[in-house]
Amino acid sequence: MIRSVVKGIGTALPERIVKNSDLEGMVETSDEWIVQRTGIRQRYIANENETTVSLGAAAARAALENAGLTPDDIDLIVVATSTPNNTFPASAVEIQKELGMTHGFAFDMQAVCSGFIYAISTADLYIRGGMAQRVLVIGSETFSRILDWNDRSTCVLFGDGAGAIVLEAGEGKGLTSDRGILSANLRSDGSHKHKLFVDGGPSTTQTVGHLRMEGREVFKHAVGMITDVIEASFEETGLTADDIDWFVPHQANKRIIDASAKKLNIAEDKVVITVDQHGNTSAASVPLALGAAVKDGRIKEGDLVLLEAMGGGFTWGAVLLRW
Ligand code: UT7
Repeated sequence: MIRSVVKGIGTALPERIVKNSDLEGMVETSDEWIVQRTGIRQRYIANENETTVSLGAAAARAALENAGLTPDDIDLIVVATSTPNNTFPASAVEIQKELGMTHGFAFDMQAVCSGFIYAISTADLYIRGGMAQRVLVIGSETFSRILDWNDRSTCVLFGDGAGAIVLEAGEGKGLTSDRGILSANLRSDGSHKHKLFVDGGPSTTQTVGHLRMEGREVFKHAVGMITDVIEASFEETGLTADDIDWFVPHQANKRIIDASAKKLNIAEDKVVITVDQHGNTSAASVPLALGAAVKDGRIKEGDLVLLEAMGGGFTWGAVLLRW
């Protein structure tokens, strides 16, 4: 059977680092509160010239280089983002142009923080359906542009960045020992809209709007939703928490990550944490964390990797893949 195998990974971060202490002068907050409640120590914030497209293109170039491929080898680009450069065209087609690619096709996916999980699952279906041989899957965000910088309950939580992987059609035996994507489980429930949303848009206010979140409410649902969808992936594949080499969760809050890992019985030293460095970068958080763990040599070929995310909508999902 066809399996979608990861051939390369790349990441890109804005130049500017903003530490918790830098925010103390902007809103009534403290490094101590932010670290204690979230685990975040710093985040990267895009300057005027850095955009979702420029960061996404930089991550894509790095992923292609890592895979030893060129844009000519790519059939499809899927970009997960909630902060596109323009309402349309899709940032994916702008990245396609940045890469000098005039063949194939490209589109954006919008599932907020779960965007990269949704995008991987979509790319996997295009590959297994035979419509694409190689797909660039990118998560790229500039959430700093939709934050209300006077709202301390949200502005300290998010950051900007991008990560990308190249998926390629490979041969598998249909076993969990195959390399590639082994399972993807996606969920959404729109009845939670008002707990995490942006209060503007083209069809309502004709503005971009600002992110609004009832953090405590999101927190209350997060661990249950994350662990439910992961347990569904375990049930589907017959794999268990003991089989996991690396757990690469969405990086929103260290307390949510710790509680999810504990509930699933995943050992602490298998959990990849980057929320301290990047903050919550929404659809970019999982590929940024993956990129960090591949770069420092933790994730190696053949390792079983569990990805998950949960965010606005609510949307949530999990992917099991063998690197
Ligand atoms: O990526 C999408 C998914 N998003 C998430 O997963 C986020 C989920 N939620 C969270 O991570 C947490 O709920 C937060 C980090 C947002 C907040 O932590 P919390 O422990 O739930 O705190 P809280 O909202 O209950 O607020 C506690 C107190 C409040 O003061 P009072 O009412 O107790 O006097 C807040 O006003 O902390 C106050 N507070 C702050 N204090 C200092 C809120 N924001 C800040 C701040 N600095 N930045």
